[in-house]
Amino acid sequence: MTLEEHFGITEQQIQDAAELLRRGELVAFPTETVYGLGANALDTAAVKRIFDAKGRPETSPLIVHISSIEMARSLAAEWPLSAEELAERFWPGPLTLVVRKKPIIPDIVTAGLPTVGLRMPAHPVALALLREAGIPVAAPSANRFTRLSPTTAEHVREGLAQHIPYILDGGPCTVGIESTVLSVVDRPAVLLRPGGVSRSEIESVIGPIDSLRQSEAAGAHPSPGMHPHHYSPRTPLFLVRHGEVPSQGQGAYLRLQRDPRYPASVVNMPGRPREYAARLYATLHELDSQGYDWIAVDAPEETPEWESVLDRLRRASAS
Ligand code: TXA
Ligand code: MG
Repeated sequence: MTLEEHFGITEQQIQDAAELLRRGELVAFPTETVYGLGANALDTAAVKRIFDAKGRPETSPLIVHISSIEMARSLAAEWPLSAEELAERFWPGPLTLVVRKKPIIPDIVTAGLPTVGLRMPAHPVALALLREAGIPVAAPSANRFTRLSPTTAEHVREGLAQHIPYILDGGPCTVGIESTVLSVVDRPAVLLRPGGVSRSEIESVIGPIDSLRQSEAAGAHPSPGMHPHHYSPRTPLFLVRHGEVPSQGQGAYLRLQRDPRYPASVVNMPGRPREYAARLYATLHELDSQGYDWIAVDAPEETPEWESVLDRLRRASAS
């Protein structure tokens, strides 16, 4: 079972990409969540290139990708028991742990914060690249700032091709939305961004966690870089109920229930949150290229299973 058979990626491509990373160049690579735009996390000049390519403000901290728990520990000034337990349970996988950082991680990576987000991705191509490179790799999603995250190499090319020397095409991402970001700096831990690992999965390992809103109210730091207009298509997106799509113009309707009457181009979305998440960005990318006046999206129920999908839809919505 080789990377070549599964993903069409050769050993040589992994070696070339790893060499580029070590030399301070950018490489786009697949993860199980979304494609990342990677640079050597220990090299300030290399990381600067990420911000330039994305048009991203340097106030927004990056996630550092590692290939082992040991490498994570080597970058953390403190590695609490909760981090160890969560890493053992969910890594490799779509969970980013925010911990206190060692000085070896340059300020540009963390936007000057004393903490760093660490994640071991589950995609075999990402893991092979990280192991071959032998360095921690800072990587945000490989899209222009505030735009939709890419879940295929084609999305990366559409948005960033001229800025990236190398794109590893490992096919579509299976999780489809970004990792869960959890701060374990203080107790209880704080959920900064819902994502691929659910709140209840985390709580089953370390007990109750706080939401960002609760901890903000308690006076803690908000998560930097959590801009409300992240993850947007160019076409205005509206969350709707009961199929009440806009009456003006032409649009597309992401429907959860079945009803054949609406005057929009209708896309039936899966009724289950994981399958929905896996399709969401690819669907929005495709609709965004079709020149509609709007995209109307059935608002999913406000239940814990839909938390991460609802978070992304709210950020993507125009109002
Ligand atoms: O699934 C993912 O997480 C993808 C793939 C490529 O791994 N990456 C990703 O990166 O979504 P990005 O840069 O688009 O989002 C990083 C998020 C930001 O919302 C940022 O606020 C948060 O992680 N973050 C990173 N470091 C942090 C820190 N030290 N403290 C608080 N939040 C942090
Ligand atoms: Mg992003």
